[in-house]
Amino acid sequence: MISQNISLKKYNTFGIEVNATNFATFDSVEKLHQLVRSTTLSPITIFGGGSNVLLTKDVGGLVLRNEIKGIKIIQESDQEVIVEAGAGEIWHEFVLFCIDHGFGGVENLSLIPGSVGASPMQNIGAYGVEIKDVFESLCAYEIETGLEKVFSKAECEFGYRESVFKRALKGKYVITHVSFRLQKNPKLNTSYGAIEQELKAQQIEKPTLRDISNAVIAIRKSKLPDPNQLGNAGSFFKNPVVSVDIYNAIREIHPDAPSYPASEGNVKMAAGWLIEKAGWKGFTRDHFGVHKNQALVLVNYGGATGSEIWNLSSEIIQSIEENFKITLEREVNIL
Ligand code: FAD
Ligand code: EPU
Repeated sequence: MISQNISLKKYNTFGIEVNATNFATFDSVEKLHQLVRSTTLSPITIFGGGSNVLLTKDVGGLVLRNEIKGIKIIQESDQEVIVEAGAGEIWHEFVLFCIDHGFGGVENLSLIPGSVGASPMQNIGAYGVEIKDVFESLCAYEIETGLEKVFSKAECEFGYRESVFKRALKGKYVITHVSFRLQKNPKLNTSYGAIEQELKAQQIEKPTLRDISNAVIAIRKSKLPDPNQLGNAGSFFKNPVVSVDIYNAIREIHPDAPSYPASEGNVKMAAGWLIEKAGWKGFTRDHFGVHKNQALVLVNYGGATGSEIWNLSSEIIQSIEENFKITLEREVNIL
């Protein structure tokens, strides 16, 4: 059933108050098919947990919230297992399912908000792991034709916070199920410095999947604001990949500038560090601003509009260009 003029405030973690002109939910591919084929409303916008969107105006056309549930093992050997999850499953609950069953691969991605279905959209990543590392395939529904298609890893064209669904196929498919290849005797990934430190602090020498998950949860809680308490969408910008020349020029003035390996001749820099150095950390205007502990996160203290946050992000982009000659790219999806 399609409802009219529904507030999206509780459906986006920024807590922005806008309406969907038309809104419906679906919990199966059949219901999705019925909804899409029985309407001429356009465009169709898919919502999962709303944790990676900035809503700058009322959303016209039809907003469809994905509530397809279910987690099942579809293939298993002594070493590996392929697990399929409905796109409407909550990502962290899927991670906990894997940990409970001893399936390794997604524990470093604990506590990332949102749905399973959105995880391939931007190849979610944290603490040394991206979903491309465990991704097997996904099923998606083509809005224009009503046909279902299976996408392999290669077809998803994953990159850093990127996939074909954010680029060439933007707005064309609804992801309905995602399958992951997980390990029964996993090699744990503790390469990210903060995880090692956290395990050491807890005096854990031989960590289990759950220990890694708990360490990641503790680190995340210490750094990132909880959207239930403070509106935000995680990192607002991507970490920029810059030329070695630009990086070296910055290093001359700031020898402590953090960096990560990137493609040859390039370096990935920490956008949070750049934004902090440009003086924005903790900046507050009216009821929105830049988080006081993590400058990469823009926050809504309550009552901000999406346009206000968009304008703040434009000011930050300009400021980073002026200070460092680096153009930041927004990571959140702007609607
Ligand atoms: P939504 O915000 O609902 O949607 C995001 C985009 O995907 C939209 O364009 C939407 O139309 C599209 N979409 C959603 N579902 C589907 C579907 N089934 N089919 C087709 N299109 C779809 N991300 C990271 O990568 N790493 C992190 O560490 C991280 N930390 C975060 C911390 C916080 C506090 C917050 C608030 C966010 C964080 N994020 C992080 C961002 C966010 O959690 C992820 O991008 C997540 O995958 C978004 O899921 P969602 O269901 O909320 O997507
Ligand atoms: N830093 C600062 N000041 C700040 C924030 C960060 O100097 O205000 C420095 C830190 O000290 C550190 C470096 O920047 O040296 C990197 O910071 P952090 O480890 O917190 O990670 P990040 O690069 O800011 C990225 C992801 C996060 C992910 C973490 C952990 C992007 C855009 N963001 O953040 O993902 O959780 O690494 O892997 O790649 C998200 O996508 O929404 C997200 C939260």
